[in-house]
Formats: sequence, C-alpha cells, structure tokens
Amino acid sequence: MRLSINGRTHTLRLEPRATLLDTLRDELGLTGTKKGCDRGQCGACTVLIDGRRVLSCLSLAIMQQDREVTTIEGLAQGERLHPMQRAFVAHDALQCGFCTPGQICSAIGMLREAGDGMASIVDPAWQGRSASLSDAEIRERMSGNLCRCGAYRQIVAAIQEVALADGGQIHHKFDNRPDSKGDSSHGAAPASRT
Ligand code: FES
Ligand code: FES
Repeated sequence: MRLSINGRTHTLRLEPRATLLDTLRDELGLTGTKKGCDRGQCGACTVLIDGRRVLSCLSLAIMQQDREVTTIEGLAQGERLHPMQRAFVAHDALQCGFCTPGQICSAIGMLREAGDGMASIVDPAWQGRSASLSDAEIRERMSGNLCRCGAYRQIVAAIQEVALADGGQIHHKFDNRPDSKGDSSHGAAPASRT
C-alpha cells in the first residue's frame, strides 16, 4: 500500500490489520507518535489526517491511502517549529513529554475544528466565527488527551496563545509544507504484529 506521511510517499507491504500507530513507529521509525493505552483512551497517539485529529491506535493504516498523514515530525519546517510547538516550549507545557506530541497534534486539529464552527459540550451554540475560546472550551475540547504529569494549565495557556495569535480571531491555519517531497519504499511485512 502507499501512504503519504509528512509529505513523503511510502510504499509498504503490511498486513491489513496493521494499525496506523504501529506502522508509523515500527515500519517507518516515526516514534514521535506515542503508544500509551493502545485502546483510544489517552490521546498520546494523536496524529493529523487531512488536517483532522485521529487516534492512530484505533485507525488501520490501510484506511489512510489517498490521505495525508501528519505526525509530530512533520510539523516543523526545517529548523522552524510550528507555532503550536513554539507555544508549548514558551509556556513550559510539558514535563516528561510523553503526551506532548499527541497534545500538539490534537491542539492543532482542535483549533481547526473550532474555527470550522464545530460545537462543544461547553458551548453548544458555538459558531466559531470571531469569539475566542475560553479556557473551559479548550479543556473540554482537549479532554481526550491525558497528561499524567498534570501540565494541563500550561497546555491550555499555550493553546490560548496560538488561538489568539490573530488578534482574537480563532487561528486554525494548518501549515504542513515539508521542505521536500520524496519516495521511500520499504521491505516485506513482518511475519506478525500483535
Ligand atoms: S495510544 Fe491511542 S489513545 Fe492511547
Ligand atoms: S508531560 Fe508527562 S504525561 Fe504529559
């Protein structure tokens, strides 16, 4: 199968049951995406697919053909970090860092959802056109991403900074322009992966 990940096309032979998470980590060496619970409960494995956040542990790799997968490794442009990465650093929004790749990918996807007017349980009437996100909104919308170190206050502050970067307008630009495109082929599928 062919997968487009961080702007590069990869040709792989995989079992149909291979998850996107295991494919990223075990086949492609993209270990920035973390495996926490492996059952959709912690958010550590969050990646972006066509700009939308997805739990890669619950997604089969075969489902992602013809889509663009972006992992934490694909956010920076060369030495220039993505604004969300910079905000996490500036606000010290991490301790051990295990949850951080998922938090950052989720936050980028979340701002896009909010900017697209998707409602939340905090404000069901959310229209997403001009109002800023409250801390409660951010906490609710990020509730699928757990942090065992308890860095939630700094995480919310970092996301607020990016959300308000355009003078109070919801900022949900998703910038994914890798420096170069290429093609990478990988060998035979492993005998089994459980
Ligand atoms: S590893 Fe996917 S949600 Fe926990
Ligand atoms: S920074 Fe350690 S789990 Fe979040």
